[in-house]
Amino acid sequence: MDAVKAIKNRRTQKVLADNVWEVSTNQKELKNTVDELLDLASCAPYHYKSDLKHQSEEKELNSCLPFRFYVLDTSHCRELINYAKEQGIELKKLKNMLSASDVLFIVTWLPKQENTSVDNKKEPFPFYGDVVHMEHIAAASAAIQNVLIGATAKEIPNYWSSGGPLREKELREYLEIPLNEILLGAIFLFPKDINDKDVFIKTGGLRESGKEKKTWSKWITKK
Ligand SMILES: Cc1cc2nc3c(=O)[nH]c(=O)nc-3n(C[C@H](O)[C@H](O)[C@H](O)COP(=O)(O)O)c2cc1C
Repeated sequence: MDAVKAIKNRRTQKVLADNVWEVSTNQKELKNTVDELLDLASCAPYHYKSDLKHQSEEKELNSCLPFRFYVLDTSHCRELINYAKEQGIELKKLKNMLSASDVLFIVTWLPKQENTSVDNKKEPFPFYGDVVHMEHIAAASAAIQNVLIGATAKEIPNYWSSGGPLREKELREYLEIPLNEILLGAIFLFPKDINDKDVFIKTGGLRESGKEKKTWSKWITKK
């Protein structure tokens, strides 16, 4: 599939399973796919390096890229449901998606300075609204979009969720995702054969809204 077709075909597909789906046997193939998609993420443009505290040598993930990708394979998607249940954490709709997903990417962006008015029990909200932060978020978004387009090109159904419950301290500690990173998206990949299954698939509510080009773009014409 060429790039234009993949961009046009990308669409939100929220697969909401009532029962936990079996872990497929193609985990090795899936890992290769994830590897290719992570390569695409790293091709995204970025403008500012992450703050040096995110590049410390003691950290396992210490790239200067302003974002991090944490990957859950199918078993770990299912395991997360069990863990949340044990801990009494409400996953809401994420539970239905984790029941169906092959892969979950938890994507964070890395603030350069933290809001000291917040404790270490949650992400540093509200974060500073400066240009560096804006461009960190933009770069992380571009990386996510590369993954979505890449997945679409491979005909893998996908969905960018805000991932609400994944901001919670208990889940972050379990997943070992530092709370001083800010969740930008929980990116789900689903099995290719979802349309053959008896499952509810919700599409993007805003898919058709606001698309009329002349309402959001114009030529600047000055003489
Ligand atoms: C940053 C971001 C966060 C999103 N979070 C959610 C979400 O939490 N729940 C949801 O239903 N859709 C979410 N979406 C997907 C949008 O609803 C979807 O992109 C929109 O409806 C347009 O549909 P399309 O993706 O099929 O073009 C998110 C999209 C973006 C870019």
